[in-house]
Amino acid sequence: MSTREFTTHSSDETITLGRKLAEILKPPRLVLLRGDLGAGKTTLVKGIAEAFNAASEEDVTSPTFTLIHEYHGPEVNVYHIDLYRIDTQRELETLGLDDLMGDNSILLIEWGEKFGRFERERDVEIALERVGENERRVRVTSN
Ligand SMILES: Nc1ncnc2c1ncn2[C@@H]1O[C@H](COP(=O)(O)OP(=O)(O)OP(=O)(O)O)[C@@H](O)[C@H]1O
Ligand SMILES: [Mg+2]
Repeated sequence: MSTREFTTHSSDETITLGRKLAEILKPPRLVLLRGDLGAGKTTLVKGIAEAFNAASEEDVTSPTFTLIHEYHGPEVNVYHIDLYRIDTQRELETLGLDDLMGDNSILLIEWGEKFGRFERERDVEIALERVGENERRVRVTSN
């Protein structure tokens, strides 16, 4: 297990970090994005999805209500999932996340730590922490 730590000073820097982190995300990968509301999880996904030519940063928006956003690149499918509103095992099952896990898939899950299953199964954890108005600490842990 290894942990790397970064600090960003703007949302643009977090997007740039997302592009860089995409290099260590070879599919299939299950990635937990941890951090409070507004920590920058969705902002980071903008950079990751862009790096795989799956979406432009403007296209990536929060899946708060839709729960899953799919971005298909030439080689990689990025699934951005928000479990903030999912509370029960039953609700979780209706999302069918297992069906998304294919050879070319990267699942990026916000609030996945609500379910022990994802804490156990995740390949990578990215934890964002608000340090100041525009400053974020980003810790990346991979197995
Ligand atoms: N260094 C930074 N990195 C990321 N976002 C930043 C930074 N500085 C300021 N921000 C602002 O913080 C907010 C981060 O919002 P974002 O939607 O990415 O958070 P989130 O962690 O996905 O929250 P939620 O749990 O509500 O989905 C944005 O308004 C962004 O502009
Ligand atoms: Mg978000």
